[in-house]
Amino acid sequence: MIVNKTITSLAILLLLNISASGVRTKLHRRLVETSNDVKGICQLMVETQGYACEEHKVTTEDGYILSLQRIPTGRSNSKKGAKAPVLLQHGLISDASTWLDSPDQSLGFILADNGFDVWLANVRGTSYSSGHTSLTPDSSDYWNWSWDELAIYDLPAFFRYVHDKTGQKLHYVGHSLGTLMALGAFSREEVLNIARSAAMLSPIAYMGQMLSPLARAAADLFIADALYWLGLKKFAPGGGAASKLLKDICTTIDCTSIENAITGPNCCLNSSSSLSKQQPTATKNMIHLAQMIRKGTIEMYDYGNGDDNNKHYGQGTPPAYNMTSIPNDLPLFLGYGGQDLLSDVKDVQTLIDTLSDHDPNKLVLLYREDYAHLDFVHGTNANQVVYDPLMAFFERN
Ligand SMILES: *[C@@H]1O[C@H](CO)[C@@H](O)[C@H](O)[C@H]1NC(C)=O
Ligand SMILES: *[C@@H]1O[C@H](CO)[C@@H](O)[C@H](O)[C@H]1NC(C)=O
Ligand SMILES: *[C@@H]1O[C@H](CO)[C@@H](O)[C@H](O)[C@H]1NC(C)=O
Repeated sequence: MIVNKTITSLAILLLLNISASGVRTKLHRRLVETSNDVKGICQLMVETQGYACEEHKVTTEDGYILSLQRIPTGRSNSKKGAKAPVLLQHGLISDASTWLDSPDQSLGFILADNGFDVWLANVRGTSYSSGHTSLTPDSSDYWNWSWDELAIYDLPAFFRYVHDKTGQKLHYVGHSLGTLMALGAFSREEVLNIARSAAMLSPIAYMGQMLSPLARAAADLFIADALYWLGLKKFAPGGGAASKLLKDICTTIDCTSIENAITGPNCCLNSSSSLSKQQPTATKNMIHLAQMIRKGTIEMYDYGNGDDNNKHYGQGTPPAYNMTSIPNDLPLFLGYGGQDLLSDVKDVQTLIDTLSDHDPNKLVLLYREDYAHLDFVHGTNANQVVYDPLMAFFERN
């Protein structure tokens, strides 16, 4: 036990060290990058695979300028007439590249090839969505947000933009934090009038029983809170020299095991390439998630005392997101895995229990015993075992 704890602490220190140095090198890199023309996701990851792609920008009500990409047609370009739009929302410390490993394996391309109009979102803070009407990512005010703002501002901005452009209701696919954003928004009756259906892969709602030893230890030790009070408002797990350092470490030890300690033993990944695609997020967001792990509730960010909560919310405790208020006739698809340490089976079951009044014809549960957190987006067989049933669900709704 003691040995285990020591190893966990060392691993956390390593991660912290990486984030601190990541902040510095990232800043330096930004200065270098802004002098060149920074290539977007379309140019880097979509057009290279032979697909048409459009870059779009949308500004949120609180001033963040976000990018989204559209893949309007598949490779064969056969389907005529209006296509159904699908919005894909990535998870924590990730970006739209989540959906773009390769045409044969990744949902972004597969949906396009199957006649959907594909829209890829990138949340605030990612390098593809780092604009703001008055703030720059170098200021701490830029990083003053948690997933509350992702659910209340970013997600509705993406939904409304795609709806305005296409004139149609949207299908939605979220992975991990992308599911929490949508569940939070839907429970507040946001965007329901323009949502057609929603698929949640590795759903995150309740986190009180989470099994991931690294995530749990970090939450219990108030790691993110400490960073915040140290002045690190930006949480950059894999930036610049940090990712190089990780790659160096990964040549001597098995990096899939670090990833596995966080996400669970992914059965079906092609390589550990997902480590190189990490994006920064707000430290406040990490604190909010740690609060959920400690408390087991789905509430807004807790300012830590009655006075401050009162100032923000007009009540002494943070307002709760009420999962039961998600409409019973909203078509929902939940894909979850038996090996997932972040969306662990017990917490997903709690979510399913809160949906017990949901119309049974509008709720699809897909359980994969062998899947962990990243298999749902990077698994080499996800095409058959997840995306085929997911597209059948879209066709029915
Ligand atoms: C962060 O934003 C909140 C409003 O959401 C505001 O009350 C608070 O003062 C801000 N904190 C900082 C450090 O700017
Ligand atoms: C793994 O990824 C590479 C590069 O994307 C691809 O060529 C290869 O076919 C993949 N392997 C499997 C088993 O899917
Ligand atoms: C949650 O929503 C449901 C359905 O709208 C309602 O019956 C219930 O009272 C709400 N719970 C809370 C704690 O507000």
